[in-house]
Amino acid sequence: MKEVTIESKLIVYDNLDELPQDIIGLMQKAMEARQNAYAPYSKFSVGAAILLENDEVVIGSNQENASYPSGLCAERTAIYYAGAKYPDLKIVRMALTAGSRIHQTVTPIPPCGACRQAIAEYEVKQEAPIEIYFMGETGKVVKSSSLSNLLPLLFDKSVL
Ligand code: THU
Repeated sequence: MKEVTIESKLIVYDNLDELPQDIIGLMQKAMEARQNAYAPYSKFSVGAAILLENDEVVIGSNQENASYPSGLCAERTAIYYAGAKYPDLKIVRMALTAGSRIHQTVTPIPPCGACRQAIAEYEVKQEAPIEIYFMGETGKVVKSSSLSNLLPLLFDKSVL
């Protein structure tokens, strides 16, 4: 028997202004995308902006459905669109922002487990890390230099 410790390194910024201008710009695109969330049920809006290696930015927002499980998160809306439109381009980074219409969201909101799994698929596919930046509406911003920091013990194609 042995005990295994898993460590992840994240960087926490006090606010968006501490980040380089290009990251601020990408997060602003995620904030704009959040405005287009269709979230009449949860009243929780999420925006995602993905930078591709050709400098193109693909955005997404959560899209809900009266049949709740048929809705889709912002991250997967964006990354599946990126995969569909630019199948051969690498994803450099993703900026994510989430906010509730019921209360102010000031803590960083990480992507859900299903979205982590979806993002991981593309990180494995492109054999290069995808940087993830996430925040609430305002306040602290968390940077993960790779999706794998957010999803250790990855299930991927190597086991199939
Ligand atoms: N949501 C996202 O868009 N991304 C996440 O990572 C977590 C949750 C959405 C799904 C649903 O529309 C709403 O937030 C509340 O769960």
